[in-house]
Amino acid sequence: MVRFVDVGNINRWAAETGVERILTDMVEYLERDFRRWPTFDKAPRVASHSPLGVIELMPTSDGVTYGFKYVNGHPSNPSRGLQTVTAFGVLADVQSGYPTFWSEMTVLTAFRTAATSAMVARALARPDAHTMAMIGTGTQSEFQALAFRGLLGINRLRVWDTDPDAIAKFVRNLAPLGFEIVVATGATDVVTGADIITTCTADKANATVLTDAMVAPGVHINAIGGDCPGKTELDMGILHRADVFVEFTAQTRIEGEIQQMHPEFPVTEIWQVLVGEATGRTSAEQITVFDSVGFAIEDFSALRFLQDAVDQTSFYTDIDLVADPDDPKDLFGLVTAGAPVLV
Ligand SMILES: NC(=O)c1ccc[n+]([C@@H]2O[C@H](COP(=O)([O-])OP(=O)(O)OC[C@H]3O[C@@H](n4cnc5c(N)ncnc54)[C@H](O)[C@@H]3O)[C@@H](O)[C@H]2O)c1
Repeated sequence: MVRFVDVGNINRWAAETGVERILTDMVEYLERDFRRWPTFDKAPRVASHSPLGVIELMPTSDGVTYGFKYVNGHPSNPSRGLQTVTAFGVLADVQSGYPTFWSEMTVLTAFRTAATSAMVARALARPDAHTMAMIGTGTQSEFQALAFRGLLGINRLRVWDTDPDAIAKFVRNLAPLGFEIVVATGATDVVTGADIITTCTADKANATVLTDAMVAPGVHINAIGGDCPGKTELDMGILHRADVFVEFTAQTRIEGEIQQMHPEFPVTEIWQVLVGEATGRTSAEQITVFDSVGFAIEDFSALRFLQDAVDQTSFYTDIDLVADPDDPKDLFGLVTAGAPVLV
């Protein structure tokens, strides 16, 4: 039997556990796996592009457990009443190759993306950071805000989105949770006084949601929306002025903000900072950029976290996913058992 966490169960689990607690607890799993980064199988994800979006498969393994996520990215989906990003994921036993755990990952991806952003910001943002500007208040945004509060204590938010309804939704969801939220008059206004800027927009284009002039010294930029070839958010000038940190360089050169740069443009993989092999922030004036695209190991960590969290609970069901004949060579016998005998 394979353990399966469906949408109803992940929602009940999240409601019972609390979103902020899940985000901070998940960081422990993420950080543990980032710290053993070299032990994982790694490759840029497999992407199937179409005019409206992309469908991606994201596999990895630590030699004991194999994991993969199926995820799409379709920025025009909300205009058709659909989400930009949906996903599901699987863990499997490397010894047998049998799947062991399967989960919805639309919700889990929002958790893991926010938890990763906050983990990275904890390593790179100025320790005295207290205000975050958020450009893009769609699906990911509340999770991002809660992760930054949980890990960095950021309670002051300045927000902007081209869709006023998305801003209203964000305020409606987060104001009751005690955030101080200022709705900006535009993208230039939103970054005023911000120590951290999160860009979280969806557009299948090389958009410039953040210009060089908008970025003050000392800012940490958490750039999560540029995650596909031809889909970026930052002005190249920012990348020239900043130190850029990535998940897996080979994938980020294809998909991240640095796709705009020369193939030799210097970047640092964040796991190296976490284990002390590379320096992160070196001064209060330095601009740091997390050029996030989302890497398979983060999904692996999130799935492992969820698998442990729902163990011994009612938040999963067992599903009969793998055909398992008594004689492993007699699959035919399984499909013909009970059928009338033809003479
Ligand atoms: N890096 C990662 O690991 C990761 C993970 C998940 C999603 N993403 C990406 O993050 C982005 C946001 O995802 P989502 O699920 O929240 O999408 P979403 O469609 O729900 O929200 C995106 C928001 O951006 C707004 N927007 C678009 N262009 C804008 C602009 N120029 N200025 C201000 N606002 C603008 C839209 O109105 C919308 O409200 C997507 O591009 C997605 O592909 C990245």
